[in-house]
Amino acid sequence: MTEGDTVESESSADQPKTTGEKATRDNLGGKTAIVTGASAGIGLSVAKKLAEAGANVVLVARGREKLDAAAASIGLERAMSFAADVSHFDSLRELLRVTRERFGRIDILVNNAGLNHRGPAVGISPDTLGAIITTNLTAPVFLSRLVAEHMVQQGSGSIVNVASLAGKIPVKDEAAYSASKAGLRAFGRALAMELDPLGVHVSTVCPGPVDTDFLGDLEHVPDIVLSQPMVTTDDVADAVLTCISSGKREVSLPALSGLLTTLGYVFPSLAAAMHPLFERRGAANRRRYVAARAAGRVV
Ligand SMILES: NC(=O)c1ccc[n+]([C@@H]2O[C@H](COP(=O)([O-])OP(=O)(O)OC[C@H]3O[C@@H](n4cnc5c(N)ncnc54)[C@H](OP(=O)(O)O)[C@@H]3O)[C@@H](O)[C@H]2O)c1
Repeated sequence: MTEGDTVESESSADQPKTTGEKATRDNLGGKTAIVTGASAGIGLSVAKKLAEAGANVVLVARGREKLDAAAASIGLERAMSFAADVSHFDSLRELLRVTRERFGRIDILVNNAGLNHRGPAVGISPDTLGAIITTNLTAPVFLSRLVAEHMVQQGSGSIVNVASLAGKIPVKDEAAYSASKAGLRAFGRALAMELDPLGVHVSTVCPGPVDTDFLGDLEHVPDIVLSQPMVTTDDVADAVLTCISSGKREVSLPALSGLLTTLGYVFPSLAAAMHPLFERRGAANRRRYVAARAAGRVV
């Protein structure tokens, strides 16, 4: 396929129209899901829970070996790996093609692959900036656009974008990341308004810190990020499945952090006044987490 071909041109008349079919939290039998960033962390938990609920799952990530192992751990009758960088848009077209070839339909898209780079915004290289925006925003937008076309034809579907609390209230030294996640959140909300009447639901999940490779060396995580309680990859995956079954527009984890970030965004002076308090809390949490990691305990 070439850039510019549309999914519509691939879609066949024999695709079932499933208007009004409502998935339940634990019954996704017969559904097919694509999960990006699925070889580790949140994406892997999401893929496993989707498969446990009966869905076929296509796992996407760049590193083939880990990805294949992840798909095999789920079971190859229900899971398939597709090695790709989400920022390579031709690969995304191919992803749709092979998913439909193998499973016949696409009911769920979880845009989860993400990239962060910490440091002052002034001085960020154009390449790094471009990679963050492309991976976290442009790629999910493009993939949603491709998949939505297919879902609208089916008359049903769910798209879940994994954003971040940093997309609700910007984090110092994570400016490009915060901007990309705020953009993803805005895109999801606008797309939801567009697609809801057509039977396709779009949701955004905004997690606080999660102890994965993505969070990285705790010494380099801003205090303000660690001021919010850690959640687990399974907590985030549960939120994703809840969104799929309920069509909920947005879930923040933990819920109280979601409320605090909303308040902080609406009242910036309040956020600035509370900032030192939260930073102290974050620094104290860091000491606890570092000790837990050193002792081999779950953070
Ligand atoms: N961990 C946190 O504290 C946290 C908090 C809030 C939001 N989030 C968001 O949650 C999402 C997942 O984070 P995580 O903590 O689960 O990360 P993780 O454990 O580091 O896993 C990232 C996954 O994404 C894949 N990936 C990365 N870049 C990719 C690309 N360009 N194309 C395709 N796959 C790619 C990785 O595999 P390959 O490297 O092999 O491609 C891996 O499978 C991200 O969007 C992140 O922004 C994370």
